[in-house]
Amino acid sequence: MQRIFEDLIETVSAMGFTDDYYQKVSDLIEEKVPHYDWVGFYMIDPGDKSMLDLVAFRGEDTEHVRIPVGEGICGQAAARKESFVIQDVHKESNYLSCSPKVNSEIVVPIFVDYEVVGEVDVDSHDRGVFTDDDRLFLEKIAEITGDKIKGA
Ligand code: SME
Repeated sequence: MQRIFEDLIETVSAMGFTDDYYQKVSDLIEEKVPHYDWVGFYMIDPGDKSMLDLVAFRGEDTEHVRIPVGEGICGQAAARKESFVIQDVHKESNYLSCSPKVNSEIVVPIFVDYEVVGEVDVDSHDRGVFTDDDRLFLEKIAEITGDKIKGA
Protein backbone atom coordinates (compact mmCIF):
# COMPACT_ATOMS: atom_id res chain seq x y z
CA MET A 1 0.00 0.00 0.00
CA GLN A 2 1.18 3.53 -0.68
CA ARG A 3 3.19 5.28 2.03
CA ILE A 4 0.61 8.05 2.35
CA PHE A 5 -2.08 5.47 3.21
CA GLU A 6 0.17 3.70 5.73
CA ASP A 7 0.89 7.01 7.48
CA LEU A 8 -2.81 7.90 7.61
CA ILE A 9 -3.72 4.49 9.05
CA GLU A 10 -1.11 4.98 11.76
CA THR A 11 -2.37 8.50 12.58
CA VAL A 12 -6.05 7.53 12.67
CA SER A 13 -5.30 4.44 14.80
CA ALA A 14 -3.61 6.65 17.38
CA MET A 15 -6.47 9.17 17.52
CA GLY A 16 -8.84 9.23 20.48
CA PHE A 17 -12.52 8.60 19.83
CA THR A 18 -13.48 12.18 20.68
CA ASP A 19 -16.66 14.06 19.68
CA ASP A 20 -14.81 15.53 16.71
CA TYR A 21 -13.27 12.20 15.60
CA TYR A 22 -15.32 11.94 12.39
CA GLN A 23 -14.57 15.55 11.45
CA LYS A 24 -10.86 15.19 12.15
CA VAL A 25 -10.58 12.01 10.11
CA SER A 26 -12.55 13.54 7.21
CA ASP A 27 -10.32 16.64 7.23
CA LEU A 28 -7.11 14.68 7.50
CA ILE A 29 -7.86 12.19 4.73
CA GLU A 30 -9.26 14.79 2.31
CA GLU A 31 -6.20 17.00 2.85
CA LYS A 32 -3.60 14.27 2.44
CA VAL A 33 -4.90 12.23 -0.50
CA PRO A 34 -4.69 14.30 -3.70
CA HIS A 35 -7.45 12.51 -5.65
CA TYR A 36 -10.01 12.70 -2.80
CA ASP A 37 -12.26 15.76 -3.20
CA TRP A 38 -14.93 14.93 -0.62
CA VAL A 39 -14.63 12.69 2.44
CA GLY A 40 -17.43 12.07 4.90
CA PHE A 41 -19.06 9.71 7.36
CA TYR A 42 -22.69 8.62 7.18
CA MET A 43 -23.88 6.80 10.29
CA ILE A 44 -26.99 4.66 10.83
CA ASP A 45 -29.59 6.57 12.86
CA PRO A 46 -29.94 4.49 16.06
CA GLY A 47 -33.60 5.62 16.33
CA ASP A 48 -34.42 4.58 12.75
CA LYS A 49 -32.01 2.01 11.39
CA SER A 50 -33.39 2.43 7.87
CA MET A 51 -31.68 5.84 7.60
CA LEU A 52 -28.10 7.11 7.29
CA ASP A 53 -27.18 10.54 8.66
CA LEU A 54 -24.24 12.61 7.49
CA VAL A 55 -22.30 13.26 10.70
CA ALA A 56 -19.14 14.92 9.33
CA PHE A 57 -17.56 15.73 5.99
CA ARG A 58 -14.85 17.73 4.31
CA GLY A 59 -15.64 19.12 0.84
CA GLU A 60 -18.54 20.88 -0.84
CA ASP A 61 -21.88 21.05 0.96
CA THR A 62 -24.35 18.36 -0.05
CA GLU A 63 -28.13 18.20 0.05
CA HIS A 64 -27.88 14.47 0.90
CA VAL A 65 -27.59 14.74 4.67
CA ARG A 66 -30.03 11.87 5.35
CA ILE A 67 -30.12 8.87 2.99
CA PRO A 68 -32.47 5.85 3.18
CA VAL A 69 -30.68 2.47 3.32
CA GLY A 70 -30.94 1.10 -0.22
CA GLU A 71 -30.85 4.49 -1.95
CA GLY A 72 -27.83 5.83 -3.79
CA ILE A 73 -24.38 4.32 -3.59
CA CYS A 74 -24.32 5.02 0.16
CA GLY A 75 -27.64 3.31 0.78
CA GLN A 76 -26.72 0.32 -1.37
CA ALA A 77 -23.39 -0.21 0.41
CA ALA A 78 -25.23 -0.24 3.75
CA ALA A 79 -27.95 -2.59 2.46
CA ARG A 80 -25.52 -5.03 0.79
CA LYS A 81 -22.92 -4.76 3.58
CA GLU A 82 -20.12 -4.40 1.06
CA SER A 83 -17.77 -1.81 -0.35
CA PHE A 84 -18.86 -0.08 -3.54
CA VAL A 85 -16.17 1.21 -5.91
CA ILE A 86 -17.73 3.28 -8.67
CA GLN A 87 -15.35 4.40 -11.39
CA ASP A 88 -17.96 6.43 -13.29
CA VAL A 89 -20.96 7.63 -11.30
CA HIS A 90 -22.72 8.73 -14.51
CA LYS A 91 -23.21 5.07 -15.44
CA GLU A 92 -25.09 4.33 -12.19
CA SER A 93 -28.89 4.24 -12.14
CA ASN A 94 -29.16 4.25 -8.32
CA TYR A 95 -26.98 7.26 -7.57
CA LEU A 96 -27.53 10.50 -5.62
CA SER A 97 -25.52 13.36 -7.08
CA CYS A 98 -23.89 15.71 -4.61
CA SER A 99 -22.02 17.82 -7.14
CA PRO A 100 -21.78 17.82 -10.94
CA LYS A 101 -18.00 17.84 -10.52
CA VAL A 102 -17.94 14.32 -9.02
CA ASN A 103 -17.05 11.46 -11.38
CA SER A 104 -16.12 8.56 -9.10
CA GLU A 105 -16.98 7.38 -5.60
CA ILE A 106 -16.07 4.76 -3.00
CA VAL A 107 -18.32 3.82 -0.09
CA VAL A 108 -17.08 1.41 2.58
CA PRO A 109 -19.30 0.13 5.42
CA ILE A 110 -18.25 0.35 9.06
CA PHE A 111 -19.14 -2.78 11.03
CA VAL A 112 -19.61 -3.48 14.72
CA ASP A 113 -20.21 -7.18 15.40
CA TYR A 114 -21.09 -7.78 11.71
CA GLU A 115 -23.77 -5.08 11.78
CA VAL A 116 -23.39 -1.98 9.59
CA VAL A 117 -23.28 1.07 11.86
CA GLY A 118 -22.16 3.58 9.25
CA GLU A 119 -19.81 4.14 6.37
CA VAL A 120 -17.04 6.24 5.00
CA ASP A 121 -17.73 7.90 1.66
CA VAL A 122 -15.15 9.39 -0.72
CA ASP A 123 -15.84 11.31 -3.93
CA SER A 124 -13.33 12.24 -6.63
CA HIS A 125 -13.57 14.69 -9.49
CA ASP A 126 -11.39 12.30 -11.51
CA ARG A 127 -12.96 9.43 -13.41
CA GLY A 128 -11.66 5.86 -12.97
CA VAL A 129 -9.18 6.95 -10.35
CA PHE A 130 -9.76 4.42 -7.57
CA THR A 131 -7.60 1.30 -7.17
CA ASP A 132 -7.60 -1.66 -4.79
CA ASP A 133 -5.23 0.38 -2.63
CA ASP A 134 -7.95 2.99 -2.08
CA ARG A 135 -10.48 0.32 -1.17
CA LEU A 136 -8.09 -1.49 1.19
CA PHE A 137 -7.09 1.81 2.78
CA LEU A 138 -10.68 2.89 3.41
CA GLU A 139 -11.64 -0.60 4.63
CA LYS A 140 -8.82 -0.30 7.18
CA ILE A 141 -10.09 3.15 8.25
CA ALA A 142 -13.58 1.65 8.58
CA GLU A 143 -12.22 -1.26 10.64
CA ILE A 144 -10.30 1.08 12.97
CA THR A 145 -13.44 3.22 13.36
CA GLY A 146 -15.63 0.18 14.09
CA ASP A 147 -13.16 -0.90 16.78
CA LYS A 148 -13.24 2.57 18.34
CA ILE A 149 -17.06 2.61 18.34
CA LYS A 150 -17.16 -0.82 19.94
CA GLY A 151 -14.62 0.20 22.58
CA ALA A 152 -16.40 3.46 23.46
N1 SME B 1 -23.31 9.98 -4.06
C1 SME B 1 -23.86 9.42 -2.86
C2 SME B 1 -24.52 10.46 -2.01
C3 SME B 1 -23.61 11.10 -1.06
S1 SME B 1 -22.57 12.22 -1.76
O1 SME B 1 -21.57 11.54 -2.59
C4 SME B 1 -21.80 13.17 -0.66
C5 SME B 1 -24.82 8.29 -3.18
O2 SME B 1 -25.12 8.03 -4.33
O3 SME B 1 -25.29 7.67 -2.25
